[in-house]
Amino acid sequence: MRKLMLLAAALTLVATQALAVTSIKNTKHDLSTTSTGATTVKSTNYEEICIFCHTPHKAIDQLNAPLWNRSGTDAIVITNYYNSATLDVGTSNPATVTAKIAVSDAKLCLSCHDGASLTNDLANPSNLEAGVQPAGLAELLAANPANIGVDLHDDHPIGMVYADVVTATPTEFVASPVGSIKFYDGGVMWCSSCHDVHDNTAAPFLATSNVASGLCLACHNK
Ligand code: HEC
Ligand code: HEC
Ligand code: HEC
Ligand code: HEC
Repeated sequence: MRKLMLLAAALTLVATQALAVTSIKNTKHDLSTTSTGATTVKSTNYEEICIFCHTPHKAIDQLNAPLWNRSGTDAIVITNYYNSATLDVGTSNPATVTAKIAVSDAKLCLSCHDGASLTNDLANPSNLEAGVQPAGLAELLAANPANIGVDLHDDHPIGMVYADVVTATPTEFVASPVGSIKFYDGGVMWCSSCHDVHDNTAAPFLATSNVASGLCLACHNK
């Protein structure tokens, strides 16, 4: 009987977890006035959340950006990047990687994380605020770890086609990473392959938990 009760309790827990809905609300990516998650940066006049990144109308028609609302994003220049296309230096193809980084989500993230663009105007400001731009936002200071700058050579590589890397170095990589790891636009690795901007369940906004390096081991055979 006791065993049965334990089983029932465990099942209830599983069911509750399965139903739990995650949200961007009250995370550091909620820059609205009432956000309890944003600590160093939030607006003093905007009550909406999505608007700092997306707009349903008059979105910026550029990049790989879903209904993107951050003006100036395309003008960001990535000065440097991790320029190896595979772990095997001999088959690296930096030119291809540059092209694919250009259409990745890197600039979407850098439109705040470069330390200079977070306070740029929104392409389509809020009707609720009568078209006034957000107030009270501040750039991420150089000392803020979230300011990763526009030099990506010291960051984990992105921009390569994951399957190509697996083909070049098959023993090094998991052929089909499971969990919430996604590839984009023909199998290219983006910042969002490792991160989910909308969900901080596995902090900091990770696609899957990195406890015991679970995120790294989802792709790397090490
Ligand atoms: C801090 C910036 C940011 C905020 C705020 C934000 N998003 Fe996003 N969103 C992104 C980025 C970057 C992408 C592209 C990367 C991706 O596909 O996950 C994206 C992609 C999406 C997509 C398409 C891909 C997917 O993940 O399903 C949807 C739908 C979406 N966002 C909805 C929303 C809604 C609704 C809100 C508000 C509740 C919101 N977003 C708030 C940055 C943001
Ligand atoms: C979504 C899959 C994926 C995840 C998750 C991932 N990596 Fe990687 N990693 C790659 C790919 C693909 C490369 C090869 C890129 C290249 O050619 O340089 C790579 C390259 C590397 C390299 C070698 C860089 C080089 O090419 O010289 C190191 C070190 C590394 N990753 C560490 C990590 C660590 C640590 C984590 C966890 C925080 C991690 N990776 C998570 C896919 C992943
Ligand atoms: C609208 C601006 C904006 C955009 C766009 C944006 N971020 Fe952020 N992000 C922030 C702010 C603000 C913080 C909080 C900085 C702080 O409080 O120190 C943050 C924090 C983070 C953190 C650290 C969270 C922590 O707990 O320390 C990560 C990781 C992150 N963002 C990843 C991303 C990625 C990946 C993208 C693109 C897919 C992205 N962000 C796009 C504004 C943005
Ligand atoms: C291979 C996986 C991977 C990729 C790709 C990746 N990140 Fe991260 N990122 C992480 C992990 C893991 C952490 C948490 C590091 C820690 O806890 O020390 C992190 C932390 C961060 C932080 C918080 C900085 C800090 O040190 O607190 C920001 C901001 C961030 N990432 C943005 C980005 C952006 C923007 C991109 C794309 C240019 C990107 N990440 C690509 C895995 C990745």
